[in-house]
Amino acid sequence: MCGIVGAFSRKGAVLDGMLEGLRVLEYRGYDSCGVAVVEGEKVEIRRKVGRLTELEKLLADGALAGARIGVGHTRWATHGAPSDENAHPHSDGSGRLALVHNGIIENFLELRRELQAEGRVFTSETDTEVLSHLVGRELARGLKLVDAVRAALARVHGYYAIAVMSPADGGALVCARQGPPLVVATTADAAYLGSDVLALLPHTRDVVYLEDGDVAELAPGSLVVTNLAGQPLERHARRIDWDAEQASKAGYPHFMLKEIHEQPDVLARTAFDRILSASGDVSFEHGDWSDARLRSFERLQVIACGTALHAGMVAKYLIEQLVRLPVDLDYASEFRYREPVLVPRTLALAVSQSGETADTLAALRLARELGASTASICNVMGSTVVRESDATILTHAGPEIGVASTKAFVAQVVAAFLLAVRLGRARGTIDANGGRALLDELRRLRPRMEALLAPETIERVGAIARGHVDAKGFFFLGRGVNFPIALEGALKLKEISYVHAEGYAAGEMKHGPIALISKGMPIVVVNAPGSVADKVRSNLHEVKARGGHVISIGSDAASHELADESIDVPATIEPLSAVLNVIPLQLFAYHHALARGCDIDKPRNLAKSVTVE
Ligand code: AGP
Repeated sequence: MCGIVGAFSRKGAVLDGMLEGLRVLEYRGYDSCGVAVVEGEKVEIRRKVGRLTELEKLLADGALAGARIGVGHTRWATHGAPSDENAHPHSDGSGRLALVHNGIIENFLELRRELQAEGRVFTSETDTEVLSHLVGRELARGLKLVDAVRAALARVHGYYAIAVMSPADGGALVCARQGPPLVVATTADAAYLGSDVLALLPHTRDVVYLEDGDVAELAPGSLVVTNLAGQPLERHARRIDWDAEQASKAGYPHFMLKEIHEQPDVLARTAFDRILSASGDVSFEHGDWSDARLRSFERLQVIACGTALHAGMVAKYLIEQLVRLPVDLDYASEFRYREPVLVPRTLALAVSQSGETADTLAALRLARELGASTASICNVMGSTVVRESDATILTHAGPEIGVASTKAFVAQVVAAFLLAVRLGRARGTIDANGGRALLDELRRLRPRMEALLAPETIERVGAIARGHVDAKGFFFLGRGVNFPIALEGALKLKEISYVHAEGYAAGEMKHGPIALISKGMPIVVVNAPGSVADKVRSNLHEVKARGGHVISIGSDAASHELADESIDVPATIEPLSAVLNVIPLQLFAYHHALARGCDIDKPRNLAKSVTVE
């Protein structure tokens, strides 16, 4: 939701490193940004509405270049519109502290009134400024910064990742976490913090993921972690094998296009080392995925948001078809408030790229409270969802920077396929030969994905997309395992082109939405040879008969013949057609957005990881 960085160096000059960190974190939010540093006995704050480039203009005078302690922030507004005054860092007006925050302080109004009654003056509309005044009040009472932060947080309801710095006590940097992620690290000469490990990688690969309730005091070469009561806690560093190169654009014009092209490699990284060819099975390395445990479940409950939910929908089709295990599916934001009833022996499966999505995390915690065992499909090893799951399938997609998820989605679908094989082998609905056949098909996807990423194929998709650049609305239709793909194609287009696009079950159109079809309206139909191909063709006929302009995606030749335009996809088994069919849809959205001049990697109003409700 927002990006936070902080640094404390023995040698000085933390500013450039913080700006680099904010650049890497801009995908988390970018409507305003700011930095604060300790200059002698004072705190200097520079903040600005707009992108990081605007802030850099404020810093061009070099006045803050030598500072040794600093915090920085890139914002996705929750309380208070994007403005200079609402940008972080915030202070209490004393010039003795600066604070940055990701999250929401739910009781901020009551606290704000209390503080105003004491004569404290607020200069922003944010909930964050309340935190600054709470800490400032404790500092004024003579507490050390870390004690002032703990005392302040004891008054707070909500969730937060915060970093606070002060010139007091020779300079101090403190951070705390309850909800949104926070990663810290120390080297011999410095200490660092960030919302995402990517901001720390230029300095070190050995990082500590703070846990909920942690308060950390950082100084060069020193990290002290306690709970809110001040009791010391053991936190061990993890080594991160990603490098900054993986997180860079590697020559592509946008992260999204780079990540689309990474998908064949992601398939290999997510799947190939887990395939046990001899037994037609797969193995997962985190948690108990044994036959005994997987046989003990009566039901699966998938919980996720957005694109991750679409991957969860594919998982539902795959697991019910291949394993005959009932699978329920919920938007996490619905599951957590609908007072769900779970049957005994339910496995709750959270699907999440970031592992920090607030709704998904809350739904997972609720499922556990209701007695479910928990598992996750996730892309970030140290994330909260992973740490709170009994077992995890990591997707090894590498850092996904583009806000519109692509490679992480494909990795999630591949992981769901692997899970279906593991469940089927454990529960006896897939035998060794069946498992081998399925896994062989999975391996064969790689050259088929490469074919879809050939320049001529991409150009063809781009030409079709550009042909509809002025369309006022789209439908994306599919059935079976390709219904979630139709939903995903529509979401991709919405997210980065800002045009209305509706994903719909093809069979449902005649129950109302077909009234929306107007002459020439682009209708993307996703089809694959198999159990519902002929039904989808009928639906294609229906929309075409009403003037729709049909764009056929997939490997069903008959659908292409009926359509006005088509993008052919290499054939594979129906359960795996979802992995291939989504690629032209990703490229369609990319080229359409490009033609409309939209910001591909940082679409308006969005953030990569929605760590607030
Ligand atoms: C994906 O294109 C979207 N940006 C969004 O729907 C995302 O999938 C959703 O917010 C869930 O995020 P997560 O996978 O990190 O939990």
